[in-house]
Amino acid sequence: MNSMKKQTLCVLAAMICAAQQANANHPDSVYIATYANSPKAGLHVAYSSDNSRWIGIGDNYDFVKSDFGAWGSQKQMFAPSVLKHDGVWYAVWGVNTDKRQFATTKSSDLWLWKPQDYPYMDVPEVLEPVLSREGDEFVVMFKTADGSVYKTVSRDFSHWSKAAKIDNADYISQKQSISVGGARVEADVNRVPWQFVNSLITNVDAAAQRYARECERMTDDASRFAKVNDIKAFLKPDANNSKAISNNLIGIFFEDINYAADGGLYAELIQNRDFEYSEGDNRREKWNAKTSWTLEGDGTEWSIVTDNPLHANNSHNSLLKTEKVGARLVNSGFDGIVVKKGEKYDLSIFFRSKDAHKVRVSLREGDKTLASTVVSLKSGAQWKQYGAVLVPSASAEKAVLAIEPMQKGELQLDFVSLFPQNTFKNRKNGMRADIAQILADMKPRFVRFPGGCASHGNGIENIYHWKHSVGKPWERKGDFNIWNYHQSRGLGFFEYFQFCEDIGAEPLPVLSAGVPCQNSSRGGRDGKNDGQQGGLSMDEMKDYLQELLDLIEWANGDAKKSKLAAMRAEAGHPKPFNLKYLGIGNEDLISDVFVERYNYLCREIRKAHPEITVVGTVGPFWEGSDYEEGWKIAKQEKLDIVDEHYYNQPGWYLNNHNFYDKYDRNGTKVYLGEWASKGNKLENALVEALHLTNVERNADVVVMSSYAPLLAKEGHTQWNPDLIYFNNSEVKPTANYYVQALFGQNSGDEYIPADVDLRFKTDRSNRVSRSDVMRRIGTSVVRDSKTGDVFVKLVNCLPEDVTLTVDLNDIIKVETIKSGKNKTLGASNYYLDADYTVLTGNIAEGNQKPTSGTAKVNSESDDFSLEYTMPKYSFTVIKLVKRK
Ligand code: AHR
Repeated sequence: MNSMKKQTLCVLAAMICAAQQANANHPDSVYIATYANSPKAGLHVAYSSDNSRWIGIGDNYDFVKSDFGAWGSQKQMFAPSVLKHDGVWYAVWGVNTDKRQFATTKSSDLWLWKPQDYPYMDVPEVLEPVLSREGDEFVVMFKTADGSVYKTVSRDFSHWSKAAKIDNADYISQKQSISVGGARVEADVNRVPWQFVNSLITNVDAAAQRYARECERMTDDASRFAKVNDIKAFLKPDANNSKAISNNLIGIFFEDINYAADGGLYAELIQNRDFEYSEGDNRREKWNAKTSWTLEGDGTEWSIVTDNPLHANNSHNSLLKTEKVGARLVNSGFDGIVVKKGEKYDLSIFFRSKDAHKVRVSLREGDKTLASTVVSLKSGAQWKQYGAVLVPSASAEKAVLAIEPMQKGELQLDFVSLFPQNTFKNRKNGMRADIAQILADMKPRFVRFPGGCASHGNGIENIYHWKHSVGKPWERKGDFNIWNYHQSRGLGFFEYFQFCEDIGAEPLPVLSAGVPCQNSSRGGRDGKNDGQQGGLSMDEMKDYLQELLDLIEWANGDAKKSKLAAMRAEAGHPKPFNLKYLGIGNEDLISDVFVERYNYLCREIRKAHPEITVVGTVGPFWEGSDYEEGWKIAKQEKLDIVDEHYYNQPGWYLNNHNFYDKYDRNGTKVYLGEWASKGNKLENALVEALHLTNVERNADVVVMSSYAPLLAKEGHTQWNPDLIYFNNSEVKPTANYYVQALFGQNSGDEYIPADVDLRFKTDRSNRVSRSDVMRRIGTSVVRDSKTGDVFVKLVNCLPEDVTLTVDLNDIIKVETIKSGKNKTLGASNYYLDADYTVLTGNIAEGNQKPTSGTAKVNSESDDFSLEYTMPKYSFTVIKLVKRK
């Protein structure tokens, strides 16, 4: 939990308790027990004044949960052993029945725990670890399945000795059997001051209250706001006190999740074009080199071979042996191939054939041939690329591509590609125009790629290496995707950078810190060293650092002087890409293994390239141990920016207005790299708009933000909700999308503070003082210093319309001075119109689209104001465009 928040809650709750309990007859000290009652739960705590009757704190509250391994199958805590030493609570536990690791963590208050580590033991498995002290060392004794007992020791609770076999009789556990809430558990028992237990009770109660607030939903508003109506709001922007804010606030985070790349943004129409799919891509569906291909008809034998590969990174290809003409190899694309009548499609296939051969390649739907070409193969031992342009005679939703040998004999084929010529900006190997366009329409200031979890990967072998994604498409190294499918990497770093340039956004590559995802289900090099503990060794880290330095060189180097930069030029971009940001790590567990690698990379990259802003990471939540430790490192290392992530319920956003107002204005900045409110209803879109008004107010600290995930193909979603859904022929932006787009399209680099004054219309002297009502109104006024345009953003999360007056006098006055005029000329001389765009509707539904209109500007007697009614449940942007 965020320590500041925790402190505030604790102080509040402690004051209440102190008042109620000042004279209560509590013992000075009590017994405290730590235990677990099921592997999927966490560490529980109970207390007792007599070591006999035990009272659990919270309703089975998890004081710490295991963070080991993949969600679902792992994250288990077996037999925790807790030791109190020198005022610190040290804990170890078993992480599974077949793992060679145990978990370690510590805490000074049993509340905030150090991010966990998982020391690796060279034994078949680690079971029932027991923690004790011997002299100045920590000792962990554990069992293996065959009944043997081992011991490992550590002075610092971080570096552990090699496991040594010991006598079974030496394995001693101090655990006591106690009964809590009717269940018998094995617990470690200590004695602590009553105040210690009291503060835990207070913390758990505060967490429960906070959780209750986070459950606030707009569907309950009828009763919550029954007496709230007839509200008038006054907004008084104070242009004299504007502050500079980031002009990079709204960006996008592209990750290959939900088929966002292959079958999505990447315009390639052939699935498994290189026959490189394998079972590891999707074990449930048993994908293989033939996935998405079928052989129709008789007379031809089809096999997958690996001899004479087209490229070392593309080792599988298809061998067709034809005895009798008539069969064809058919690719069904990604749920079928969509083609449009009269449009041009670039076909490319590599063939290798001893004898000259003729092959017919056609686009078909059912029995209908939509386009067809005959490829004449030359004889020879080498692979040759053949191309043609196919122009369908009719449009189709579910076409297939058929490759049909026209004579007897053998041929090999590989890398079958069909690309619409109509890609975004007509780029070769480019992006699907409609999806790319809707992203461009958001006017994102940056694009983060390639992940997310796809960056740090599922296990060490799956870490994303940018070099595997550049070069000729058939030379790239595909891999399984952590989201359970295949990544061809046809959409690679060159394409990402090119796209950024095409839409005027900064590229923000985010790459692994040398460790895989902490939720990895796969092991390290020996297959048993799961999660981050199976990260790259520090020896390997030298090469990995070089790989990241090479990326900077590739992106920014002089093509005449540098080989890497020359690769970029050869791919089609002689000028540097002007990379400014590089992210290291993705919401990682801030374990010892991670910290060693992360600090090494951040320090070395910043040393070698002070011109690059390194973006660090602070865990997956807005509070808790990774957040605290991540921020500690950010401050120690004076990092420029760190990446925060949170996916919270709408109620969190309704109740956390001031989340960033508490942040240090002069320290490390924030990139809110992944966030969303768990839904695609208007309610979600509105709380996101509300949050963005709060973020925009703090955009001197929060310098970048991106909603996540961005894209999802219908029928292939691993994560819901997403910002934009699509299928093969349609793109479907959500209400959440329009919020992001309206912020992106109406951004400024100056924030004009503006107090909102809420009054009851019928009695204007009566100020609305209910904080839950006030929290439901969000406003933000920003100015674009280049154009002088001013944008007023208004969020009304109340079930009532709210009439609003915006006092424009200060804005006009300051604009007059900035324009060098010596008298006030009136609103109409500065702002021709006040067009607004509004998103509103039924909060329980989604898919609303914004509508627009014009608000009234009053400019009588040099008194300038704007009148507008904020519809109930709405987000509005009013644009004051400066007369040019
Ligand atoms: O946005 C989806 C996933 O959420 C990202 O890959 C990961 O970083 C986070 O857990």
